Amino acid sequence: MSDESEATGETSETDVTEETSERGRTKNEVNETNETNEMNETNDTSSADGLAERRGMNIEVYQPAEDSGLLAQAAVEYPVSGTVLEVGTGSGWVAQQVSENTDARVLGSDINPHAARQARERGVEAARANLTAPFRDGVLDAVLFNPPYLPTDPDNEWDDWMEHALSGGESGRELIDPFLDDVGRVLTPDGVVLLLVSSLTGYEAVVERAESNGFGVETVVQESYPFETLTVIALTK
Ligand SMILES: C[S@@+](CC[C@H](N)C(=O)[O-])C[C@H]1O[C@@H](n2cnc3c(N)ncnc32)[C@H](O)[C@@H]1O
Repeated sequence: MSDESEATGETSETDVTEETSERGRTKNEVNETNETNEMNETNDTSSADGLAERRGMNIEVYQPAEDSGLLAQAAVEYPVSGTVLEVGTGSGWVAQQVSENTDARVLGSDINPHAARQARERGVEAARANLTAPFRDGVLDAVLFNPPYLPTDPDNEWDDWMEHALSGGESGRELIDPFLDDVGRVLTPDGVVLLLVSSLTGYEAVVERAESNGFGVETVVQESYPFETLTVIALTK
């Protein structure tokens, strides 16, 4: 991993109940941070800024919500072990929970540099990376992913880091599909993928894509909310 992955050694104690908020609210209305939005600084995104403000999404790093909690629970209960990567680690909260509650060495990666930094501030070894692209073949015992999965009309896309955290493109699966196509490459022969899937994303389509990549699929945990059902599936070869 690059020098971006150097952990700071700072680990903040996190109270799950404080950081986990009502799911619908988290997807639509999240707290503010003082971090600078580099993406908006480097692009002409005045209209996107307006959209982000109207959506109440003036933050850069996805904070833990019910989906985060369900993925952490699944990883601890499974349990994962060995070298584990959390793709799209966001704040690093899931990686921190798994690190503290299993014997795994947990790494994090995220396309968002603010997220990679926030995860490092939690003590997670985290680097900026696009999905599993920079990782070597056959080195990871488990890969965890709570992906951006909300189906989004292209006319409604907004250009900021929250879009990267939430939007799965028109199908909801624009990140999930390439993830499923490559993740088998980085796993050890006995490795496992724990993937969070929302009913909004099309559960059957995700399972079909996983199976077409040679994975067996089983359910680890499932929770239903008023507008969606969240399932963590385990994929093994
Ligand atoms: C729903 S958030 C989950 C954050 C965190 N894992 C959690 O559960 O609280 C999805 C995360 O995936 C990241 N992401 C989006 N596209 C990515 C990509 N191509 N490669 C790596 N991470 C990506 C986003 O920046 C965001 O942090």
